[in-house]
Amino acid sequence: MKYRQLKPFPEAFLWSGSTSAYQVEGAWDEDGKGPSVIDARGEYPAGTTDFKVASDHYHRFAEDVALFKELGLKAYRFSIAWTRIIPDGDGEVNPAGVAFYHRPIDALIDAGIEPIVTMYHFDLPEALDAKGGWTSRDTVDAFARFSEVLFAEYGSKITYWLTINEQNMMILYGEAIGTVKPGMPKSAVYQANHHMMLAQAKANILCHQMVPGAKIGPAPNISVCYPATSHPEDVLAADDFNAIRNWLYLDMAVHGRYNNVAWAYLEELGAAPSIAEGDLEILTNAKPDFIAFNYYTSATVGRASGESSDAASVGDQQIVVGEAGVYAGAVNPYLGKTEFGWEVDPIGFRTTFRAIWDRYQLPLLVTENGLGAFEKLEDGKVHDSYRIDYLRDHIEQIQWAISDGVEVLGYSPWSAIDLVSTHQGSAKRYGFIYVDREEFDLKELTRYRKDSFAWYQKVISTNGADLS
Ligand code: BG6
Repeated sequence: MKYRQLKPFPEAFLWSGSTSAYQVEGAWDEDGKGPSVIDARGEYPAGTTDFKVASDHYHRFAEDVALFKELGLKAYRFSIAWTRIIPDGDGEVNPAGVAFYHRPIDALIDAGIEPIVTMYHFDLPEALDAKGGWTSRDTVDAFARFSEVLFAEYGSKITYWLTINEQNMMILYGEAIGTVKPGMPKSAVYQANHHMMLAQAKANILCHQMVPGAKIGPAPNISVCYPATSHPEDVLAADDFNAIRNWLYLDMAVHGRYNNVAWAYLEELGAAPSIAEGDLEILTNAKPDFIAFNYYTSATVGRASGESSDAASVGDQQIVVGEAGVYAGAVNPYLGKTEFGWEVDPIGFRTTFRAIWDRYQLPLLVTENGLGAFEKLEDGKVHDSYRIDYLRDHIEQIQWAISDGVEVLGYSPWSAIDLVSTHQGSAKRYGFIYVDREEFDLKELTRYRKDSFAWYQKVISTNGADLS
C-alpha cells in the first residue's frame, strides 16, 4: 500500500551507527584480555593483522567518538568483549578491561550520544569453548555472571542493552562465522541454541532486577522469507524457513516458548534439545522491552526435492543454504545484488518490520543494515554513492513502516566506521568513515570521511526529512 502522506520520524528517533568489539577494537591481547573463539579462528592468511589490530578503535576511541559527534549520531551501538571483562569467561574479573569500557562510554555520553551495548557479538571466550562452549550448561551461568558484572558496572550509564547478536546466524551459519566447530552434529548445535536462549533470558531478568529503567532486548537477524513461486509447496517451504530462521528465536525471546513448526523440525531432525526442569519458567519470565534486529536482505526459498543436492555447500549469513527435504535456497529474480552476492531488497525491510510488529507488538530497533563494498581512497575521498543509495532506499522503507503503524525506536546502520568484515576481512567496507589500512598493510589507520558521512549527517540533522 502506498500513502500520499508519510508519517515523520519520531522526535526521539535514535539515528545511530553500529560496530562490534572484535571487528573494530584491535588490541586483541592487551590489558589482560583473554582470547576469544574469533581470535582462535586462524583462517586468515598468515601474517594478516585483521582482528588483532582491526580499526585500532581501542586506542583511537576518542578520535572516533569526536567523528561520531560531528556526524550527529544520537546513539552508537557497540559490543563489549566478554574476554576483556572476564578473560577466561568464568574466572576472575579483569579490572583493566572493566576500566576500559568506562572511557568510551563516558566519551559518548559527554558527546550527547546514547550508548547501546551488545553484550555478546560472536566472541565467546576461547577458554569456555574449550570446555564445550554453548553445548555446556555451565556457559549459561558464565554468561549470567558476565551480565551481572556489566549491569553492576555500567548500569548507571547504559539504558539500551542487547543480549546476543544474531544468535540465529550463529546457529544456522556458525561454521562460516567461526562460532560452531566444523562437523558439529545438529543435536549439539540446537542444545547450544537452547543454552543461549536460557542465558539470554537470565540476563534479561537480571537486567530488570539490577538496573531500574533499563531496556533490554534480543538482536537476531530477521528477514522475511519469500516463496520462490506461488506453488503451495513453495509457500509452505517459505513458511517453514520463516519458522526455522526467524520465529524460533523471537517466539522464545518474547514468549518463552518454542515455535511449534520449528520444534517439529527439530524433532524430525533428532535435534530437539533436552529441556531441564525450571528452564521454561526462566524463559517465560524474561520480558524484553523491545526487539532489535539486523536486516541486510530478504530470503527466498522453494520446496525441497528431498535430494541432498538441495543443500548448497557454501553460504554465509545472507545467502540461503538449503536443507535436504526441508527447503531449497532460491534466487529472487526481481532483486539486484551487491558485489558480494547479497540481494538488495528495501521493500523486504518494510515487510519484515510489519511481520515482527504483527507478531509481537514490541518497539523495534534496527541494529544493523548496510552495504559492504570494495573501496579505494582517492585524494582523501571515497565517493560511495552506492552506499548512499542503499541506505536511502532502506530509510525510506522505515518511514513507510512507521506510516504502517509500526513503532520504530531507531536505526543503527552497519557500520559507523570501517571495520573487519566477518567473512571478507578488511577489503569489504561498510563505514561512513574510511580507515586507511589494507589487509596486510596497516598503514597509518588514518580516518577519512566518505561522501556518505556528509549525507547521513544531513539525514540526521533533518530527522530524516531530507534523504536526497
Ligand atoms: C552481521 C554481523 O551478520 O553482518 C556483523 O552481525 C557482520 O558482525 C555483518 O560484520 C556483515 O557481514 P560481513 O560478513 O559482510 O562482515
